Amino acid sequence: MSFLSANLSCLLQCCVYVSLLLLPVWTSAINEDIDVLVILPKNNSYLFSISRVTPAIEYARRKMRSDVGLYSGFNFNVHYDNSDCGNEALFNLVDRSCKKKPDLILGPVCEYAAAQVVRMASHWNIPVISAGALATGFSNKEKEYSHLTRVAPSYLKMAETFSAMFHHFGWKTALFIFDDDKEERNCYFTLEGVHNILHSEDYKIDIFEIHPKDYRVDIEEIIKYTYESEVIIMCAGANVIRDIMLAAHRRMFTSGTNVFFNIELFNSSSYGNGSWKRGDKYDAEAKQAYAALNTVTLLRSVKEEFENFSVEVKKATQKAGVYGYEDGDNVNVFVEGFHDALLLYALALGEVMKNGSNKKDGAQITHRMWNRSFEGIAGQVSIDANGDRSGDFSVMAMTDHEAGTFEVVMNYFGINGSIQVLPGFSRERFTLKDRHRNPFPEHPNKSCGLGVSAVTGIIVGALLGTAMLISFYFFRKNYRITIERRTQREDCNIGKHRQLREDSIRSNFSAA
Ligand SMILES: *[C@@H]1O[C@H](CO)[C@@H](O)[C@H](O)[C@H]1NC(C)=O
Ligand SMILES: *[C@@H]1O[C@H](CO)[C@@H](O)[C@H](O)[C@H]1NC(C)=O
Ligand SMILES: *[C@@H]1O[C@H](CO)[C@@H](O)[C@H](O)[C@H]1NC(C)=O
Ligand SMILES: *[C@@H]1O[C@H](CO)[C@@H](O)[C@H](O)[C@H]1NC(C)=O
Ligand SMILES: *[C@@H]1O[C@H](CO)[C@@H](O)[C@H](O)[C@H]1NC(C)=O
Ligand SMILES: *[C@@H]1O[C@H](CO)[C@@H](O)[C@H](O)[C@H]1NC(C)=O
Ligand SMILES: *[C@@H]1O[C@H](CO)[C@@H](O)[C@H](O)[C@H]1NC(C)=O
Repeated sequence: MSFLSANLSCLLQCCVYVSLLLLPVWTSAINEDIDVLVILPKNNSYLFSISRVTPAIEYARRKMRSDVGLYSGFNFNVHYDNSDCGNEALFNLVDRSCKKKPDLILGPVCEYAAAQVVRMASHWNIPVISAGALATGFSNKEKEYSHLTRVAPSYLKMAETFSAMFHHFGWKTALFIFDDDKEERNCYFTLEGVHNILHSEDYKIDIFEIHPKDYRVDIEEIIKYTYESEVIIMCAGANVIRDIMLAAHRRMFTSGTNVFFNIELFNSSSYGNGSWKRGDKYDAEAKQAYAALNTVTLLRSVKEEFENFSVEVKKATQKAGVYGYEDGDNVNVFVEGFHDALLLYALALGEVMKNGSNKKDGAQITHRMWNRSFEGIAGQVSIDANGDRSGDFSVMAMTDHEAGTFEVVMNYFGINGSIQVLPGFSRERFTLKDRHRNPFPEHPNKSCGLGVSAVTGIIVGALLGTAMLISFYFFRKNYRITIERRTQREDCNIGKHRQLREDSIRSNFSAA
């Protein structure tokens, strides 16, 4: 092993010398300072807080510096700013850029923070790489999000998993149940992606929104909907999921008449083994109910180098005083993603410089990052021609009904769209039987909550918010920026936005 690696490093060095000889101009030209602005929340209750991501970025910097050759001339000066998951992100970007614009922005992850920052950065020709900004609206890179590259698989990529399963198992109808907090709206955006794909493939979809913060979740009402849909897809807090599963189990929905999914992409400690357990009198029943529950999550790959990375990141995060999660969670997809982001940027910048341009050519750098694969810290990373990472996902299911433990039974590979079944897989659990008739009268069709209008609403809303914030900001700073020309259009957008907001509120009301 050491002999091999010694040989390998010798070989590498030889290559470096040869390339030094062949390309004297190119190598001597690389001595580049790159200003990187990382915009993430300070608050450690986020899985992608500054303290959690910093060790990964530092790891990537160290690696590139010690990597004799290609990247050793890149000197990344990294600044960290708080994004607060909201407007703070934009204010910090503008404040910093008044002095000197960064060459690269990493983050934000939260959708609303990212919308503002990416729009501004695209306008300024600065590349943005995020392991977040997963909402479907960001897939449209033609205008305002032109400089965004996403190094974690978006919700739309996750949704392909459902599309593949619907084809594979011949399902026709679905019910979406999701918890909309009306703030970060993670579950809303998660199911928006699934809706986009399944709706375009003509599956019948019903939607049920819940607001556990505002009022008690009406399980009876949810159960009524369940009669009409084969596949139930949920995104909500662990307690809500458990209540729904318990209610469904008592009405025998868990014996093969319906297939249940919940989506939990990032927080591996909240699902899987023991997630049915609360120490209350319903535990036994919940365990039986969870035998019918399948969890869709990210497929995590590991390779040798990842172990080192993982150990270092864990050490550094603990040193920074961040505790409170189980082991694996400190090295999550966001942490990995921002590490890979710096690598990807360096690859692209190297090529752009070879082509005679420089770090200020944000558009070219961005396009060089798209439609390519490279070796990330946890395995192969493929960025599609639209600048979004392809994703691999796993389906977990209970395989030991006595112990109530979960295992991955199926994988979906985004790169070739294929499903892989694992030893724990049983076709029976995904096959529908004895569909019953609905004893309740037909409810009015409410499959409109996540339609095109709601999606536009988000984009319009975010656009509007940014325009207003920026104008407010600049006015506050006494910049003379004329925005009058745009005022008329904004008025119109405000009207539209309000109407869309009301639409979505109306659909909640009628659903509840
Ligand atoms: C961090 O976020 C959590 C959850 O959003 C919130 O409850 C808490 O107050 C925040 N902490 C600080 C210091 O802002
Ligand atoms: C992850 O899941 C655990 C267990 O359900 C929960 O206590 C924790 O708050 C979750 N973390 C985040 C960031 O959602
Ligand atoms: C659950 O526990 C079983 C047995 O201990 C283990 O094989 C399996 O990998 C665990 N599954 C998860 C998702 O942690
Ligand atoms: C992991 O780190 C150790 C010591 O820091 C080093 O010897 C080893 O080569 C590293 N392994 C990989 C795969 O990078
Ligand atoms: C190389 O640079 C030129 C001019 O700067 C540009 O027009 C061209 O598109 C670049 N090539 C690639 C492959 O991006
Ligand atoms: C992506 O790259 C492949 C070759 O690697 C090329 O054939 C294809 O045209 C590229 N697609 C786009 C949209 O640039
Ligand atoms: C799809 O890609 C995965 C991962 O690269 C691979 O393991 C699998 O064999 C491929 N499947 C097909 C049908 O090509």
